[in-house]
Amino acid sequence: MRVIAIDGPAGAGKSTVAKQVALATGLPYLDTGAMYRCIAYAADVRKLDIHNAEAMGVIARESKVDVEDTVACLNDTDISHLIRSPEINQIVSVIAAHTPVRDAMREQQRSWISAHNGGVVEGRDIGTVVFPDAVLKIFLTASPEVRAQRRVDQSGGDVAEIAASIAHRDHLDSSRSDSPLRPAQHSHVVDSSIHTIDQVVTEIVTLFEKAVHDYG
Ligand code: DC
Repeated sequence: MRVIAIDGPAGAGKSTVAKQVALATGLPYLDTGAMYRCIAYAADVRKLDIHNAEAMGVIARESKVDVEDTVACLNDTDISHLIRSPEINQIVSVIAAHTPVRDAMREQQRSWISAHNGGVVEGRDIGTVVFPDAVLKIFLTASPEVRAQRRVDQSGGDVAEIAASIAHRDHLDSSRSDSPLRPAQHSHVVDSSIHTIDQVVTEIVTLFEKAVHDYG
């Protein structure tokens, strides 16, 4: 089974790059951040205590989350347009830090990959924990200024506010005890602030072809 793991902080260009790498390689694309966002949405509408790890674990295990390409469904309802709001951005890292939530999501991610026979998987712990044996592991990063500006170009907003929100999430994602955000062993660190998206995609596809050639 061929897996390309693409991890990195918010705004590094993971989604754009992962989708294009999926097209170029013919592998299906899985956005694991969308899965955590679905659980955050489920907790938000029920007004649950997001700091209660057990309650968040129950929600994660009992919710039916289906993510395919850019469509995210929660209990068979398409909520793709609801999971990228400032409210969800605000709470998702807190919810994603709970081990019971992560255990449930990892199990679903591994099943998804088995069912699809491989894929390009973007997230925060894909190369470190979920698929440490991925044929290719990328840690995609960019300077904080570039990341904030990209988010503003995509969805509007105030650059200083977005930079602060990204910095807050970076801190939560990299300081949590369960699978903190960091480059996996043997990963290729790619800085998207100094290359165009096309260059980054070409580099990853070339690395993938080489890895498949070398290791099968
Ligand atoms: O990639 P994103 O911004 O949509 O991810 C949303 C949040 O989900 C992010 O703040 C951290 C969390 N996340 C995670 O902890 N592990 C993953 N594999 C993917 C996302």
